[in-house]
Amino acid sequence: MNATAMMESGCAATTIGAFDLFRGGEYLQQLIADHDLPVVSANVYDELTGELFVEPYIIVERAGVKFGITGALDPDADVRTHRDVEQLGVIIGEPTETLPAVLEELQEKADYVVLLSQLGLEQSKLLAEEMPGIDFMLIGVVAQYAAKPFEVGSTVFLQPGYKGQRMSDYRLQFDEENAYLGYTGLTFDLGEKVPSDAAMALLLKEHKVAIEDASKRRAAARKPASTPTTSLYEEECLGVGATCQRCHQPQMDQWTETAHAKAFATLERGHQSTNPECLRCHTTCSLDIPLDGSVTVQDNLKNVQCEACHGKATEHARDGSYGKVTVATCLRCHDEENSQDFDFAAYLPKITH
Ligand code: HEC
Ligand code: HEC
Ligand code: HEC
Ligand code: HEC
Repeated sequence: MNATAMMESGCAATTIGAFDLFRGGEYLQQLIADHDLPVVSANVYDELTGELFVEPYIIVERAGVKFGITGALDPDADVRTHRDVEQLGVIIGEPTETLPAVLEELQEKADYVVLLSQLGLEQSKLLAEEMPGIDFMLIGVVAQYAAKPFEVGSTVFLQPGYKGQRMSDYRLQFDEENAYLGYTGLTFDLGEKVPSDAAMALLLKEHKVAIEDASKRRAAARKPASTPTTSLYEEECLGVGATCQRCHQPQMDQWTETAHAKAFATLERGHQSTNPECLRCHTTCSLDIPLDGSVTVQDNLKNVQCEACHGKATEHARDGSYGKVTVATCLRCHDEENSQDFDFAAYLPKITH
């Protein structure tokens, strides 16, 4: 996430997740210093010194109640780094090493202990059982979310999901002695029904534009001859212009009218036209492109073209075996996260030619 946006949204504490190490530990350290980010973690260590990489915890007071907030990252997390990062610079230890001591300290200093968990749901549940004394756990990174909090032992789990797609609005209630009474609230989709904060929307737009511009500059700087841009990834399609159009004009005419023919423009509108996370589905034959930005989608494969559904042109046979389309074809892109309302029977007529 954009560090400025994070601070401006009033973030009191955050922890290190696997994605935050994409540019390596050194970069993250600089980001934390530049923005004074309240990052806490009880099990990420500096690779050289063996010391904790950031503060183990922070104490935040709200309405007279003191919350001790710490964090933990799964030692087996899938930490992917940019190819320019030579050294990660951090080691992720077992949560059982330092966390118990941190929790003990927090129990003394704060009224309530909060763990920002990047451990995954199952490991978090185990931890809640093994280490009592964590009052609240906020579970990050997992695609699944729970609209309502739930309890594991004496720990309240809040699971808002990831990528900022949802917001959890929980109000915790305490009596005069600061004893916890319970909570109200839920997690809801930040879809179109929730208006954006104008200042924040502008900030994010600037952020996206800056990334897009930088990616475009990098792509332009790559020498096409010496660094083949698609060598890393196997699937190569030809594009509708070079093949299909010649022999299937009626289908071409119909396709041009569908949303699939405008899928790349959608990314351009949102200044995400260089984000591999989005290019995967908004272009053709790119579902498996590496997500580190090392591959540029060629112009002839922008949008969801014929080959996205029918397969590579080079496999075109005339015996009726080519291009069979089933619901599985659609589900590769129309997944739970990006196409919640997908219904094959309702969607199919909109695209058939
Ligand atoms: C390679 C990815 C991909 C595949 C495969 C795919 N789609 Fe799509 N589809 C998209 C994207 C991306 C959009 C959004 C386009 C936009 O508006 O930017 C979309 C949009 C649509 C829409 C328009 C939805 C709307 O609300 O206007 C329909 C209908 C649709 N797809 C049907 C299908 C069907 C049926 C299949 C399978 C036969 C299929 N798609 C296969 C990526 C895909
Ligand atoms: C797994 C495939 C997939 C990925 C990854 C993906 N999309 Fe999509 N996107 C779709 C599909 C499918 C639709 C059509 C959804 C529908 O109408 O049911 C869609 C629709 C959209 C729409 C709405 C289009 C419209 O005008 O109605 C936007 C905006 C969008 N995507 C942006 C993005 C951005 C930005 C990213 C990257 C952060 C992204 N998508 C990543 C598959 C994907
Ligand atoms: C979103 C998926 C999708 C895309 C994109 C797509 N098609 Fe199809 N196409 C289908 C489906 C579904 C059928 C129905 C036949 C089937 O079930 O295999 C079909 C059928 C066909 C047929 C068989 C004859 C017919 O019209 O029924 C041809 C030829 C064809 N498509 C060509 C194309 C061409 C050319 C393009 C690109 C301009 C294209 N298709 C893009 C899904 C797609
Ligand atoms: C040189 C002409 C030519 C090109 C180029 C071409 N096709 Fe075809 N395609 C045909 C012919 C001929 C058939 C068989 C039509 C028939 O039997 O009616 C066919 C059949 C199909 C079918 C139906 C499958 C079947 O066997 O009934 C699909 C789907 C299809 N083509 C998609 C595509 C797509 C997608 C492209 C581009 C990647 C493409 N075609 C490029 C000539 C072509």
